[in-house]
Amino acid sequence: MTSLSTGFRALPLPIIQLSLAAVLKCGQSFRWTAYPLKLDPEDASSPTHEYRFCLRDRVVCLRQTATNILYRTVQPDPQPNANQRELRDAETLLWLKDYFQLDVDLAFLYEEWGSRDKVFLGIQDRFSGIRMLRQDPWENLISFICSSNNNISRITKMVQSLSKEYSPPLLSLPTPDGSGVEDTYHPFPPPSALTHPDVSARLRSLGFGYRAEFIHRTAKMLVETHGDSIQPQDSDEPSEQWLRTLRDISTEDARAELLKFVGVGRKVADCVLLMSLDKTDVVPVDTHVHQIAIKHYGMKGSTKGKMNMTPKLYEELCTKFVQVWGQYAGWAHSVLFTSDLKSFALHGLLEPTSPLPSPVKNRKKRSREMTDLVRILPTPPSTPSVSESATATEIACNLSPAERVKKRIRK
Ligand SMILES: *[C@@H]1O[C@H](CO)[C@@H](O)[C@H](O)[C@H]1NC(C)=O
Repeated sequence: MTSLSTGFRALPLPIIQLSLAAVLKCGQSFRWTAYPLKLDPEDASSPTHEYRFCLRDRVVCLRQTATNILYRTVQPDPQPNANQRELRDAETLLWLKDYFQLDVDLAFLYEEWGSRDKVFLGIQDRFSGIRMLRQDPWENLISFICSSNNNISRITKMVQSLSKEYSPPLLSLPTPDGSGVEDTYHPFPPPSALTHPDVSARLRSLGFGYRAEFIHRTAKMLVETHGDSIQPQDSDEPSEQWLRTLRDISTEDARAELLKFVGVGRKVADCVLLMSLDKTDVVPVDTHVHQIAIKHYGMKGSTKGKMNMTPKLYEELCTKFVQVWGQYAGWAHSVLFTSDLKSFALHGLLEPTSPLPSPVKNRKKRSREMTDLVRILPTPPSTPSVSESATATEIACNLSPAERVKKRIRK
């Protein structure tokens, strides 16, 4: 283990099974904070970032090396004894295994998807280690109500300001760069925190737009309908526990329950089914996914102009993707989705874990990498910035520059 990560425990796991850099930034969860780390010049595999996530009772800190996930638990109690630390870390380890679904062999799934699908084969090496998180359904539901007509950076801002506004800080912690700056961490607020009549207006003033009303009404309905249905077993509210029971019923029944909430249409419901309710074959479909299906998976339809997403078409697209990818179609879809994000345009092209070379060598290395990039990325028609360069799926799919320009409206 690297000497700069003292206080962390190691969980052996290769990056092909889990890439934190990809999974925590690809639009599944919006509450992870990434901090760049000073690299250890002695150790080529020293972690590049620390990632932090605030649960109700603790902050989980993660780092990744080529062979391990390093984890550390921080709770408000400033001086836990050795037994308490042992217990906390054991609990955190259980949470990690559940949250990252580590019982699922991702390398096996990649092999299967690659053998069934040429498009997947074209992107799988650059986008390795992208697995589905098993999120808390309540947080997942509210985050994806925020996601309608929105982009990742703005959803992230919303979810973070929601937490800051409606749940008290759990603790403060120095940032890992040694600058002495402290960050304060807020858990995601429970449903009952969002039921007050003022919530809608307040969220509007925080920039949530029409989603403010949806969030408030969904929280209210959830608490009113399921607030007392189950005796609390831990610190979670009964309505949160009820949401988790949707894991145990069929996809159709669980979807029907989700669609009862305000601001939840088929796509949002499907995101929740896939990302927190264990429905691995559910593929959330939008017009963009439709376009991919037309161009690369033989679906009929026009690539010009927008088509109405009817329930029938939605169903056909899901069926198609399950045919292509199988029982874990929703997981495969998220790899493809990530490869198509502008923020991932350079992902997997630069060596993330190499130590910092001396400044001169650094410059040389940079220019070589840029040359590589130019070779890999087809020249875009207009002056490109990083955020405007082609996405990996576009490259894997050999889209013409003109087609890529059209797709650029999607962030
Ligand atoms: C996200 O959306 C906001 C508001 O519509 C916009 O101002 C911002 O530029 C967008 N960001 C990205 C990265 O597309």
